[in-house]
Amino acid sequence: MKRIGILTSGGDAPGMNAAVRAVARKAMAEGLEAYGINYGFAGLVAGDIHKLVAADLDNVINEGGTLLYSARYPEFAHEEGQLKGIEQLKRFGIDALVVIGGDGSYHGALRLTEHGYNTIGLPGTIDNDIPFTDFTIGFDTAVNTDVEALDRIHDTALSHDRTFVVEVMGRGAGDVAMWAGVSAGADAIVIPELDWDMETIANKIKRNRANGHRCNIVVLAEGVMSAAEFVEKLSEYGDFDARANTIGHMQRGGRPTAKDRVMASKMGAYAVELLLSGKGGLAVGIQNNQLVTHNMLDLFDSKHEAELSLSKLNEEISF
Ligand code: F6P
Repeated sequence: MKRIGILTSGGDAPGMNAAVRAVARKAMAEGLEAYGINYGFAGLVAGDIHKLVAADLDNVINEGGTLLYSARYPEFAHEEGQLKGIEQLKRFGIDALVVIGGDGSYHGALRLTEHGYNTIGLPGTIDNDIPFTDFTIGFDTAVNTDVEALDRIHDTALSHDRTFVVEVMGRGAGDVAMWAGVSAGADAIVIPELDWDMETIANKIKRNRANGHRCNIVVLAEGVMSAAEFVEKLSEYGDFDARANTIGHMQRGGRPTAKDRVMASKMGAYAVELLLSGKGGLAVGIQNNQLVTHNMLDLFDSKHEAELSLSKLNEEISF
């Protein structure tokens, strides 16, 4: 093996740059060449590929976004796209790859391995919705961005005795909402994984007001409904002077936290070690603070398990 290709795919996540840097620098340290593939699988098919030199990885560990750009490219599910991608790998003499992205990206990664190009997947998404890893790259930064936003919202909520419903990202997963909600001392956290009902939440808000709370925060996972819709339905149960707020794509940007940088660096270097030992088709994760690998096929049959006890904990301590 002489050349490793690296791509980032799907929604970007803070810490992706740290992962790209670690893969490329570790490859260089092992006497290999690293090639950056721009715009994920779309760039692979288009041949948007360039050699990385050590200086390209300067000043990136601290930056959000991805220096390799990203794209969602469902077309890579078709063999025609895969074969075009393989032609480009041959053209650039790339022998193996590291794909950094969400679980959708792992399908492409597995196809490449099946075509004889060992590929390792690193979990890069703010959603934390990948099976067999406690954390994904970008999750910690996104949660911290939410906590900062929620603290600011809390200030204005308190000044005006208001209720705020704040929608956070996470697609179908409630991890971002639970971590942000517990951290912000939310009155309620509403996620798609758990049953909830509006009347109970409205009563809780009323009870908390009666207990002396001067403002209320509901953290809502986007997979449930929009904040605006939630506020409308909530107002059927009383006048809460409620406001809707959607944090949105702000959660995807910003400088990665130390946790994301370190985790991405560890995972990136490990991916190169795995490729050097001839492995492919594996997804790297972190479980109980240890690097682990799982067969990508096993990921497709599994579902990410959110730490639902956080929601219960919040219920117990938010009165
Ligand atoms: O997967 C990351 C994520 O930010 C989700 O939380 C969100 O649902 C989705 O991407 C938004 O995608 P897009 O940036 O393509 O609108």
